[in-house]
Amino acid sequence: MYFYKMKKIIIVNGPNLNILGKREPEIYGSESFEAYFKSLKEEFPNLELDYYQSNIEGALIDKLHEVGFSYDGIILNAAAYTHTSVGIGDAVKGISTPVIEVHISNTYSREKFRHQSFISPNAKGLVLGFGLKSYALALQSFL
Ligand code: DQA
Repeated sequence: MYFYKMKKIIIVNGPNLNILGKREPEIYGSESFEAYFKSLKEEFPNLELDYYQSNIEGALIDKLHEVGFSYDGIILNAAAYTHTSVGIGDAVKGISTPVIEVHISNTYSREKFRHQSFISPNAKGLVLGFGLKSYALALQSFL
């Protein structure tokens, strides 16, 4: 008998992404992440999807350590910490699960301080600028 083992993927969102839908909708859209996550689960029934969000740098690092040796993939939008956090960059480097860096907006078409990423050098890939759809495009890479 053949058992298909579903890939276990987690989306990890950093600061201020808990207020998506209300926050700068002209940049980030008007849908909450919870609503979008529900639609993602329907769109990807063959992936086991988890979701975690924190506004706290150390909590994000703890989560990366927790999942980073057992999950099949991590989709990480570290939000503002992308541009500042050596600690999150080191965590991405230190874990064995592949990390895909995602951004809703095209950070390279925005302020200069958003052009720097501590995640990119150790990410498996990068998807940005497609709105919330960036997450779906990243998930497709695991199919
Ligand atoms: C973001 C881009 C970051 O520069 C910003 O700080 C965010 C969201 C994005 O998804 O477009 O909070 O990561």
